[in-house]
Amino acid sequence: ENGMSASSSMSTSLLTKTKPFPIRGERANYVNTPHVIVMVGLPARGKTYMAKKLTRYLNWIGIKTKVFNLGEYRRRATHMYKNHNFFRSDNEEAMALRERCAMDALDDVCDWLDNSGGEVAVFDATNTTMHRRRLIYNIIVEKMEYKLFYVESICDDPSIIEANIREVKVNSPDYRGMTSEEALEDFLQRIEHYMEQYQPLDEALEDHLSFMKVYNTGQKVVVHKHEGHIQARIVYYLMNTHVTPRTIYLARHGESAYNQMGKIGGDSDLSERGRKFGNALAEYIKEQKIPKLRVWTSWMKRTIQTAEGIDAPQERWKALNEIDAGICEEMTYAEIKTKFPEDFAARDQNKFSYRYPRGESYEDLVARLEPVIMELERQGNVLLIAHQAVLRCLLAYFLDKPSDELAYIEVPLHNVIKLTPVAYGCEVEYISLNVECVNTHRPRPEVGCKKIQSPIPCALSLQQNSC
Ligand code: ATP
Ligand code: F6P
Repeated sequence: ENGMSASSSMSTSLLTKTKPFPIRGERANYVNTPHVIVMVGLPARGKTYMAKKLTRYLNWIGIKTKVFNLGEYRRRATHMYKNHNFFRSDNEEAMALRERCAMDALDDVCDWLDNSGGEVAVFDATNTTMHRRRLIYNIIVEKMEYKLFYVESICDDPSIIEANIREVKVNSPDYRGMTSEEALEDFLQRIEHYMEQYQPLDEALEDHLSFMKVYNTGQKVVVHKHEGHIQARIVYYLMNTHVTPRTIYLARHGESAYNQMGKIGGDSDLSERGRKFGNALAEYIKEQKIPKLRVWTSWMKRTIQTAEGIDAPQERWKALNEIDAGICEEMTYAEIKTKFPEDFAARDQNKFSYRYPRGESYEDLVARLEPVIMELERQGNVLLIAHQAVLRCLLAYFLDKPSDELAYIEVPLHNVIKLTPVAYGCEVEYISLNVECVNTHRPRPEVGCKKIQSPIPCALSLQQNSC
């Protein structure tokens, strides 16, 4: 028995697909050489987790990145996984199918990098044999002349592996209809089959390869012949991430005097209601009894005043200051529209890239916040009190929002946004602390036939936040 269902035979179109790999000379001119990141490791070693997280990070810093997960190709090719026998090394039928799927995925990787403006492709598969890695090298480096970097995850702690299987694998489409215990048992056997053939990346035999190895979720990291800026960033990022459960709390400062007047920027004090929110926030945090909580604020008075009553160690980050609106600082949107109509319209055309004269764009803000993200990745529980534009950028990172949505993410005043890392992403919860405030969100203008309508929030609308 070969572990495949009867209907899953080899008749899939993926197997008969014969599209050739694009030839290097046909590729459009590009400035930077595309990269392929290839994951390596036994099942349940966090490869998909790292691949997805890295992809989210690279996209957020502006590098167009996409994951190609071989499990998905395999599931499309076989309809239904039956049991672990599918992964036996003497199952020739399944081995041929798996190799064909790998070739199809690599074909799509090359196509995406060549024709869709992709910059980094992450090939998420086990890639546990030297034979497979040689094949990848031939295509990616020799044929396509892309850069290739391997990321291997090695983990020999059975408790981590079992926890990983229980967290993500038992819910895989492969195990639909099975109990968790049956799925766990089958998955452990699947790992056994892989172990028979597993050849970790070898510094001597594969000396020509660039790679990093991550041991036991980051206890030790080995880097071999990494090349260039992108690989250095990947190494640095993966060295800083951890999998220990924790929670990140985000909040804007309490309502400020300028918020009440509808003015942007500046460094005004909290309003009466803003101070109330500060008290409510301190109370909320006290009730949560969060172990080893750290509080981060910007250098601006409104965030520092908001954090005043919170009983936890505090740090001030200049990098968390609100977007610098340059010549538009301390104006209302209506004033900007009257005084700088062209700038006002230009910002509506492309809010992410628009840079205020003598000020910043959202794109600049993402670059400024990158060290904050890196440090957040290293930390445990953190409450971060900042500003509307800053929190939009941070939320886009955690919730994997594209840059064209980033500048319109809703971050209402007087709410706590609770982020909990789960499986491959982050759960988000908005908690209103029920203190009245203005709404400073200016929604994306509707694009009309000729002109863009520019709704301006009523600064003095005393609406209750309803998020
Ligand atoms: P498969 O080969 O079956 O696709 P995988 O190696 O891709 O397995 P994941 O699906 O990514 O495994 O496993 C997710 C789990 O791995 C999460 O619970 C996550 O906490 C954990 N994890 C993340 N990073 C690591 C790491 N470096 N080592 C071990 N486990 C990790
Ligand atoms: O209005 C409050 C505020 O934090 C301003 O200081 C800042 O310029 C603005 O929000 C950012 O929001 P937007 O990019 O939508 O104008």
